Amino acid sequence: MGQSITFKKADHLKEKPGSAKLGFGKLFTDYMFEMDYSTEKGWHDARIVPYGPIKLDPAATIFHYGQEVFEGLKAYRTEDKRVLLFRPDKNMARMNQSCDRLNIPKIDEKFVIKAIKKLVAIEEAWIPSEPGQSLYIRPFIIGTDAALGVHPSATYKLLIILSPVGAYFGNSMSPVKIYVEDEFVRAVKGGVGYAKTAGNYAASLKAQTKSEELGFDQVLWLDGVEHKYIEEVGSMNIFFKIDDEVWTPALNGSILPGVTRASVIELLKKWGIKVKEKKVSVNKLFKKAEKQKLKEVFGTGTAAVISPVGFLKWEDHVIKVANGKTGKLSQKLYDTITGIQSGKIEDKLGWTQEVKLQKEKEAVAK
Ligand code: COI
Repeated sequence: MGQSITFKKADHLKEKPGSAKLGFGKLFTDYMFEMDYSTEKGWHDARIVPYGPIKLDPAATIFHYGQEVFEGLKAYRTEDKRVLLFRPDKNMARMNQSCDRLNIPKIDEKFVIKAIKKLVAIEEAWIPSEPGQSLYIRPFIIGTDAALGVHPSATYKLLIILSPVGAYFGNSMSPVKIYVEDEFVRAVKGGVGYAKTAGNYAASLKAQTKSEELGFDQVLWLDGVEHKYIEEVGSMNIFFKIDDEVWTPALNGSILPGVTRASVIELLKKWGIKVKEKKVSVNKLFKKAEKQKLKEVFGTGTAAVISPVGFLKWEDHVIKVANGKTGKLSQKLYDTITGIQSGKIEDKLGWTQEVKLQKEKEAVAK
């Protein structure tokens, strides 16, 4: 693994978007991180270079067999102008789990966190400071061998790109409408459902389009074998408040182990709320709703943060949750997580890591 990170200065810098409404993942900063892998050299040639197109052979394995993994995390600006990352160690550990499943050589987690910090420090001016805004960090690895045989690539590229973002859904705390998908499935146990890999999202697009055409925001996936048990939503994990308990589908090999999911479970337990990670059947959930026991539903994710769910549709059944409004617990979780991320709430759990802006920038200048 290369120890030093080189820096190539851009000729021109782009205009920053200011505090305008940013949306999600549409703008990209001036620089990106790049690093290559070969069997002989391992991960090498770590560099920060101007953001731009990359050149790949048309036969590269990524184009044909989708050998790819990715991550999503964010850098947050605090009121006193510091910059924090939220649990980057968890993202990097998950990236290596995904690499393992996709037969991609593992990364040095600490080194990639160092690369993220350096890139974020260089791009500090792109970190938005309005409430709900942040700098989204997307590390990803692709197989680059020019070869059409179905084999793991011998060469790879790791890239990290940055995007200033606002809410993933139009308005961060307006409840979303979710459609329970009963025809298509996302993943099965033994497959790649727990890995953060492009194919899982490609497989979701047809159902996502269908749900949007029907007037919904996202799809709720059921298990791939029996179509009975709830797994996750398009871009987030899912939680249900049933009376005074909170239920979430147990990780079973086909569900993404979300960093926000894990953080929410820790917070709820700390607050003395009973959390059950269990198999949740859609039938049972709708029965609980009929009996007025389903009090709140919310999704969790890096992009989605905490997204309250206001409506759920499954076959002919429709549930309006919490009167279509944001529930108290969803709001408390949103305030606490975003409070810790933005430094407004003291981080007693050691979840944030500060990007030492001056130190990182000086190291690049040398
Ligand atoms: C994230 O929450 O970071 C994700 O990667 C979800 C989605 C945007 C694909």
